[in-house]
Amino acid sequence: MIASAKVLTPENHTQNGEWTIVLPRKGRHRRNSQKMKITKGQQQEQQPWVPTDLEVDRKRQSKLMHKIQICLKRIENSSFFLTFLDQMESPEVLDHFHRVLGSELRLQMVIFGIGSIESHETPRLQLSLAVLMKRKFSWIGDIEVFDPVLSATESQVLESLGCSVLSVNEQGRRQAKKPTLFFMPHCEAELYNNLLQANWGVESLNRVALFGNSFETYEQHVSFKYYDQEVSFMDSSIVESVTHILAARTFTDEVRIKTVSDDYFAAFHDSSWHFFRPACENELLLH
Ligand SMILES: C[S@@+](CC[C@H](N)C(=O)[O-])C[C@H]1O[C@@H](n2cnc3c(N)ncnc32)[C@H](O)[C@@H]1O
Repeated sequence: MIASAKVLTPENHTQNGEWTIVLPRKGRHRRNSQKMKITKGQQQEQQPWVPTDLEVDRKRQSKLMHKIQICLKRIENSSFFLTFLDQMESPEVLDHFHRVLGSELRLQMVIFGIGSIESHETPRLQLSLAVLMKRKFSWIGDIEVFDPVLSATESQVLESLGCSVLSVNEQGRRQAKKPTLFFMPHCEAELYNNLLQANWGVESLNRVALFGNSFETYEQHVSFKYYDQEVSFMDSSIVESVTHILAARTFTDEVRIKTVSDDYFAAFHDSSWHFFRPACENELLLH
């Protein structure tokens, strides 16, 4: 799987204290090799949040709405979406969703880290997929969205699409008190880790379905590093920022998303559904 990868090496340690995991280069997608960032972990607090620009710009709002409508149509008519739905409706994946739902009728959806839907096509495609999922499946409930980069105009567009924009930066630490689908496309590892940490209990983890970067790939990168014995270069806070991701691997069922065509590679590559099935608290002990 991993052809060549420079992972967590000192060269990848940037001056502002961020590490970069460079994903393996694969065949014809070489030009698109992607960077995932792991931010050096400070213990962040949950904080009230408002967009930095307080005013909605009506012109930008209608332009953005138009762009999203185009994106929705484009995805809806794509073979990528057909394949995605087939996968979601396969007995294997549907069983997982049913198990997460339990006796509830709906999975609430929480979208973290969508990015700027006004500035970039990738977040627009990702958002469109989430909106189409909700339109397609009656068992998907309300959508909440948070990303600190969202502007007031973007927030307004999200609200028009039926999403609620959160006013608190939860740092990804949302506890799933009800069955919840977390849609977190291409987020930083620390955000997934925060989510897992906040739900680190048998019942809570069983109520989570997560769409996000492949945990298998994270594990491969880290074990690659151990094998190379370059782990001594790793900052302990970096290891901490993936602790729960790695620990969850033993009870995670992961289903890879098929990007199908180059058009959807940037938005959905290395993404997977993750379902967590710890059977007892002993499985949650961290070593
Ligand atoms: C690597 S970018 C991915 C953006 C987009 N999904 C994409 O694929 O292009 C990670 C995103 O996570 C967002 N983010 C950072 N901290 C966050 C937090 N506490 N809650 C939600 N999103 C956060 C960043 O603002 C950024 O937009």
